[in-house]
This record gives sequence, C-alpha cells and structure tokens, in this order.
Amino acid sequence: MSRALEHPTYNYKVVRQFAIMTVVWGIVGMALGVTIAAQLVWPELNLGLPWTSFGRLRPLHTNAVIFAFGGSALFATSYYVVQRTCQTRLISDKLAAFTFWGWQAVILAAVVTLPLGYTEVKEYAELEWPIDILLAVVWISYAIVFLGTIKQRRTSHIYVANWFFAAFILTVAVLHIVNSAAIPVSAMYSISLYSGTIDAMTQWWYGHNAVGFFLTAGFLGMMYYFVPKQAERPVYSYRLSIVHFWALIMVYMWAGPHHLHYTALPNWAQSLGMVMSIILLAPSWGGMINGMMTLSGAWHKLRTDPTLRFLVVALSFYGMSTFEGPMMAVKTVNALSHYTDWTIGHVHAGALGWVAMITIGSMYHLIPRLYGRTEMYSVSLIAVHFWLATIGTVLYIAAMWVNGILQGLMWRAVNPDGTLMYTFVESVEASGPGYIVRMIGGLCWVAGMLVMAFNVFMTVRRQESLRRPLPQSAGA
Ligand code: HEM
Ligand code: HEM
Repeated sequence: MSRALEHPTYNYKVVRQFAIMTVVWGIVGMALGVTIAAQLVWPELNLGLPWTSFGRLRPLHTNAVIFAFGGSALFATSYYVVQRTCQTRLISDKLAAFTFWGWQAVILAAVVTLPLGYTEVKEYAELEWPIDILLAVVWISYAIVFLGTIKQRRTSHIYVANWFFAAFILTVAVLHIVNSAAIPVSAMYSISLYSGTIDAMTQWWYGHNAVGFFLTAGFLGMMYYFVPKQAERPVYSYRLSIVHFWALIMVYMWAGPHHLHYTALPNWAQSLGMVMSIILLAPSWGGMINGMMTLSGAWHKLRTDPTLRFLVVALSFYGMSTFEGPMMAVKTVNALSHYTDWTIGHVHAGALGWVAMITIGSMYHLIPRLYGRTEMYSVSLIAVHFWLATIGTVLYIAAMWVNGILQGLMWRAVNPDGTLMYTFVESVEASGPGYIVRMIGGLCWVAGMLVMAFNVFMTVRRQESLRRPLPQSAGA
C-alpha cells in the first residue's frame, strides 16, 4: 500500500488487509454453503469423490464462514476500534502483520486439510494438532497486540466495545487451548486428552462459548462502535452496556450442556444448562435493546441509509435468535428440535441474520474510511445487497423451521399399535422442498456478496485513481 494512504497515527494497513479478506472469505464460505445446500437437494453433486463429499465440505463451510469470514471481520474491526477509541497506534506493526499472515495461513491449512479428511472430529475445532498450535500462537499474538494497545491508551476510560473485544479474545484463547488438548499420534493424527462424557462436555463447553464469545461478544464489540457511529448518536445507556456485559460473560459459561440433552451427561448438568440458557435471554436482550435504543431520534435515517439498515436488522435477528435459543434449551422443546433442521435454522438466524449482517454493515462504514473516502462507491448497491441478504435470510430460516418441525413431528408419530408411522426416508423426502428454498436463500446471499465485492472494488479503485499522479499533458 502506498505511503499516501498511510494514516499518520494509526496502523490502517492491517485493518485494510483484514477488511478485504472479510469480503473474499465471505464469498468463498457462503459459496461453499450453497454447494452443500445443493448437495442436500441433489446428492449426485458429491461427485462420488471423498474430497467433495458433504461430510468433508460441511466443516470446510463452517470453518470458512466462522473463522475466515467472521474472524477476519473481528480482527479488522477490533484493530480499528481499539486504535480510534484509545487514540493510539497498535503497539506493534510487526506483530499485527504476523497475526494477519498467520491467520490466513491457518485458514489455508484448513482449506487443504479438511477436504483431505484430516480432522479431530470435534465440531468447530476440527483442525489437526499442528494447525491448532499455529492457531494458538497467532491468537496469543492477537491478545498481546490488542491488550497492549489498550494498556498504552491516551484516554482515561476503556470504551465498552473494547471490553467485549477483550473478553472475546481472552476467552477464545482459553477455549481453544483447553478443548484442543490432544496427544499427537502422527504428523496429522491425534487423540483427545479427554474421554467419553468428559470429552463431550469439554467439546460443548467450547462449542457453546465459541457461539457466546466468537459469534456474540466479538460482534457486540463491533455493534457498540459502528451502530452509534453510523446513527450519529451516543450509546443509549452506558450503564446497561456494563451490566449486560458482566451478566453475559458470567452466564454463557454455564449454558453448554443444552447441546447434550438426553445424553449420558448427568441429568443435573443438563438441567443446569437449561436454566442458565433461559437466564441468558436477559443479558442478550440487554445488548439488543441498548443497540436499538441508540437509534432513538435517528429512525428516519433508515429511509435513506442502507448501511444503518444492515446494522438494525442485525440487531433484530440477534434478538430473535437469542429468544429462540433459550426456548430450544428447554428439554421438552429440545426433544422435538434436536437433530432436526430447526437447529440449522436457529444457527443461520444467528449466523446470517446477526453475524453476517452486523459485519457487512460495519464494513460498509469502515471500508470507505480506510481508503480516504466518506461513502462507498454506490449507496444504491448497498441497498440492493441489503434486500438480497434480508430476503435470503428469511427464506433460509423459514424453510428450516418448516422442515425442522415437520421432521420432529414425523419422527415421533406412532400408530395405535406403537409402531412408527413414518420411515426416516419419508421424512427426508418431505424435507426436499425446504432444501430447495434454503438453497435459493443461499444464492441470494452469494449474489449480494458479489454485489458487495464490486462496490468495494470500485471504492478502492477510485481511491487508487485519485492518488495516481496526473499525466503530463493533463497537467499542462
Ligand atoms: C449463503 C449462505 C449460507 C448457506 C447457503 C449455508 C448453508 C449451510 C448448510 C447447507 C449447512 C449444513 C446443514 C446440515 O448439516 O443439515 C450449514 C451449516 C452451518 N453453517 Fe451455514 N450457510 C450459509 C452461511 C453461513 C454463515 C455466514 C455462517 C456463520 C457466520 C454459517 C454457519 C454455519 C454453521 C455454524 C453450521 C453448522 C450448524 C450445525 O451443526 O448445527 N453459515 N450451512
Ligand atoms: C441466548 C442465546 C442462545 C441460546 C440459549 C442458544 C441455545 C441453543 C440451543 C438450545 C441449541 C440447540 C442444541 C441442540 O439441540 O443440539 C443451539 C444451537 C446452536 N446455536 Fe444457539 N443459542 C443462543 C444464541 C445463538 C446465537 C446468537 C448464535 C449464532 C450467532 C447461535 C449459534 C448456534 C449454533 C452454531 C448451534 C449449533 C451447534 C451445533 O450443534 O453444531 N446461538 N443454540
């Protein structure tokens, strides 16, 4: 990047790199999502090869969207926000650059090893031990850069967004290191340090807190900076932000057992997970309400500002999925929803509606500013993207609700003589239309991301052309 774009005080280079990769990995990860969605409609798309089978591409999709797309977005925004709100440069440009290249290396390693079938078979923690070690080193470097920057801040207080980012960074370090503890057997094979039910509980302590800290706390950090900025309003209640911060991080830790209802996990642990999940509604909604109320007096801006629309709709989906989650944690509800597409719908209400929408809104605010502009190349194209993303999300989750309840009810339906009313295959057949609708929703999302890529490209290019020296004749 040329010197002309370098900010005199802040390190924007690493923010720009992560921001661009957010768009790139967003397209890759969602295209993979559409691919596996299409495989569930047309199984022949597995191509009869192990590398392209659903079982291998599915973890590639989850790793690409969560860690490559979501992770890059979190790095970009946290590095930007910590510098702006602490009024200081990142403590080390070299270490920040290492986190960028190290993180991309982890992702590329995932792209190669997951289709080859190397996996620790723990959901969202599939990567084999050598990659796990690299990931831990990169993450600890990230913690040093972020926390070190906070330490050398020029402001007296620490803005609330940084609290959320810091909690996310510290907790993910602990989760990753504890859950990935394994005994290496060969270069690409290891055995978990834990066994049986303890292994399952450790995995879902990790899994649920990955949702709570990676997919929630980090993105709440993003929300607390970009919503007030884009709305040009102060945060509604600073007190509420502190209260729901502490409540959220305290309660999330205990909710993991709701992933293991009706398993060999002791019953008291399942009930504890259920109760904690219901309590979790309160701090989650604290964040949602604080974000929404920040718009008081600025609602009219939604008419003309599609970036703000992304941010507000993200908050609505956050509220919706954190209402649905506690409900699904109730054991009797989970007896119906578990193993069905209802879970997949819930996941994507959070993942597409909340995580992807808040990311995209934040990127539309951030990217022009990183390239010395106040606005994206085309605001109309942001509006097009907004509608494609919203329609895509609604199609996705509505299809999965219908499928999920249909499957749950078909599996438990019994004849008067106690035999099952439907075979499993009949429930798969009945799910077909829902899978087609979900795939169409996914296609809307990918189309929207391609529109975004074009808009970003034009924004960056225009900046490049502004910087290029005038030709001799034009100057004459
Ligand atoms: C174009 C958009 C997307 C499409 C079409 C899509 C599609 C899919 C499909 C077909 C599955 C497998 C479902 C199954 O096993 O039955 C899946 C799983 C998953 N996806 Fe996506 N996805 C998309 C975007 C995202 C995004 C942006 C995220 C996260 C930020 C995400 C996170 C996940 C997760 C966590 C799972 C695993 C769910 C579970 O195990 O319960 N997806 N996705
Ligand atoms: C108060 C907040 C929430 C609670 C109590 C909650 C609860 C639940 C429950 C009960 C399940 C189903 C477990 C099962 O039957 O296997 C689940 C699955 C899941 N939720 Fe949530 N949820 C919450 C918010 C969210 C949010 C905001 C996201 C995404 C950003 C999310 C992502 C997921 C994922 C990825 C899974 C699937 C895990 C898997 O089986 O692979 N959740 N959640």
